[in-house]
Amino acid sequence: MVEARRVIAVTGAGGALGAAVSRRLAGEPGTELVLSDVSAPSLEATVSSLPERGAPVETVLADVSDFAQVEAVVSSAVERYGRLDVLVSNAGVISPNGRIHNLATEDWERAFRINVLGAVNGIRAAVAVMRPQGSGSIVLTASVAGLTAWSHAAPYCATKAAVIQLAKVAAVEYARDGIRVNCVCPGTFLSGIHAALPPEAIEAMAGRHPLGLGSADDLVGAYSYLAGDASRWTTGSALVVDGGYSAP
Ligand SMILES: NC(=O)c1ccc[n+]([C@@H]2O[C@H](COP(=O)([O-])OP(=O)(O)OC[C@H]3O[C@@H](n4cnc5c(N)ncnc54)[C@H](O)[C@@H]3O)[C@@H](O)[C@H]2O)c1
Repeated sequence: MVEARRVIAVTGAGGALGAAVSRRLAGEPGTELVLSDVSAPSLEATVSSLPERGAPVETVLADVSDFAQVEAVVSSAVERYGRLDVLVSNAGVISPNGRIHNLATEDWERAFRINVLGAVNGIRAAVAVMRPQGSGSIVLTASVAGLTAWSHAAPYCATKAAVIQLAKVAAVEYARDGIRVNCVCPGTFLSGIHAALPPEAIEAMAGRHPLGLGSADDLVGAYSYLAGDASRWTTGSALVVDGGYSAP
């Protein structure tokens, strides 16, 4: 039997979650990968952590806030593999700790440019290829921060809420083109974005997750599900994987 091929592009692939998702998808049969990040050393670290006999991999350095660079990620999938079946738009940044009136315009702009415009750019670039194919799955990384209110993190919360709504609107707009759009809302797992946080803050976050803090590997099943055929009747969903954080 000929194995079904599936071409998957992942942005933010150099980070904790992007690397874990890439490793998981690289191990799934028939997968061909394009991994992208703005940081070359992080991207290299992810590539060297992939399973030895896993998927073929192309890498592209790209800043998701720049549409032309995201287009180049998608073009690289088409040039090397001939198509794009799945886009995991995962790159994201946290905003500085501060109340709304204390944050600078640049803090808001950076969060919106990377978290929201980055996802918009991913959708625009991906649908240009997926619409003519008549199929595709787009998975955006949102956050429970887009569903619950975190004091001192307004830009992050507002941008992640926007990502959830963007997934829903895109799902409705592209369903007739055979394209599904969903997002994952992770709770807190330790990664580079927490590098500046003091241990007390991390402990406090852990206490608010009934199952404790997660790891990036606790999230990969959600991405595998939304990328694959098992979720063929799922679109516009915000899949919460948060150790119970948002349950109370
Ligand atoms: N860590 C958490 O607790 C948590 C919880 C919910 C959601 N998230 C989301 O998960 C995603 C991945 O975050 P992570 O926790 O793995 O953090 P991370 O910092 O380890 O990874 C983020 C990656 O995105 C890349 N990146 C940053 N700006 C970029 C840009 N402009 N263009 C391209 N790449 C860029 C970084 O280089 C990095 O490799 C983000 O969208 C984040 O908001 C994280």
